[in-house]
Amino acid sequence: MKAAVVERPGDPGSLKEFPTPTPAQNELLVRVVAASVNPIDWKVRDRGTRPMPFVLGQDFAGVVSATGAAAHKYNEGERVFGIAREHGAFAEYTLVPEEDRDQPVARIPDDVSDAVAAALPTAGLTALAALEALHVGAGSTLLIVGVTGGVGSIAAQMARDRGAHVVGTARAQNENLARTLGVEDFVAYDRGDSLAAIKSTYPGGIDAVLDLVDDGDRIKRIADVIRDGGALVSTIGAADVPWFSERKVVAQNLIMNQTPQSSHEGLRTLAQMVEQGRLRVPIAAERHFSEVEAALAASKTGTVDGKIVLTLP
Ligand SMILES: NC(=O)c1ccc[n+]([C@@H]2O[C@H](COP(=O)([O-])OP(=O)(O)OC[C@H]3O[C@@H](n4cnc5c(N)ncnc54)[C@H](OP(=O)(O)O)[C@@H]3O)[C@@H](O)[C@H]2O)c1
Repeated sequence: MKAAVVERPGDPGSLKEFPTPTPAQNELLVRVVAASVNPIDWKVRDRGTRPMPFVLGQDFAGVVSATGAAAHKYNEGERVFGIAREHGAFAEYTLVPEEDRDQPVARIPDDVSDAVAAALPTAGLTALAALEALHVGAGSTLLIVGVTGGVGSIAAQMARDRGAHVVGTARAQNENLARTLGVEDFVAYDRGDSLAAIKSTYPGGIDAVLDLVDDGDRIKRIADVIRDGGALVSTIGAADVPWFSERKVVAQNLIMNQTPQSSHEGLRTLAQMVEQGRLRVPIAAERHFSEVEAALAASKTGTVDGKIVLTLP
């Protein structure tokens, strides 16, 4: 089969021939139809610490093409989506265990497309887990730093769906997109001091912040805009938890696959929200599988609006 393979440090992940995997007892062999790009894909590639060779990518949508002898939950021909962390999603075939919190899988409802299903897993489960960790509900005010990317664009819609008031930051040119995601108060980070602007609008402080962007120094400024007892989640491990605690902020560095939302049920929740018209996944581009390197390069710029999906004919 063809796959985006990293064989040695510095490999860009170009397509190569790679052995088609065989399912173990509890595994499903999936013919990949679509896969989406997440920042973790190029981060893993660039770190060069994972045993090589390995196949890039984790979010997939596809069709079950074979099942292990002890795998009984899915039938050949069923459409499934999920996270193939171990065997990689940027390949014509991948393997997933039929039940594993670290690599969840679920059926794709009939009226959800392959591209949308492939775009959902990592960004959607992270958004779901973050909103739970932040206790976002009716009446909460949530600030999302980086609201028009993969995680932010889903988190904004979910927060609105729960009745929260959503404040979001992104480049000025993304204001319209942010508004379509349900952002009521948009703050452009490239038009002056966004935190000063937020502080003057919310002098009593914001209840919760989902920060998808700021490093360890910049994130400390967020403490100024959170109310006493408010909550902060960083998805990039930037929050100094004791430092925030001294300032009466409950901070957490979220690792999606260690949360209860990283599960079959979490994926079903996402698919149901799409089916019910409560969640729309912005797809920035659908690109042919052969353009995987260019898709990773685009993600690495940090300026993709929503998700890039790779399609496999
Ligand atoms: N810990 C975990 O389990 C976990 C899970 C998922 C994701 N993550 C991480 O979380 C981060 C976000 O993921 P993602 O998929 O949403 O990434 P993404 O799709 O690349 O989105 C990042 C967004 O940040 C915006 N941005 C860039 N600089 C900004 C700034 N200074 N202020 C405000 N917004 C800014 C960009 O919008 P503009 O174009 O408008 O600048 C972009 O849309 C990544 O680092 C990813 O690896 C971690």
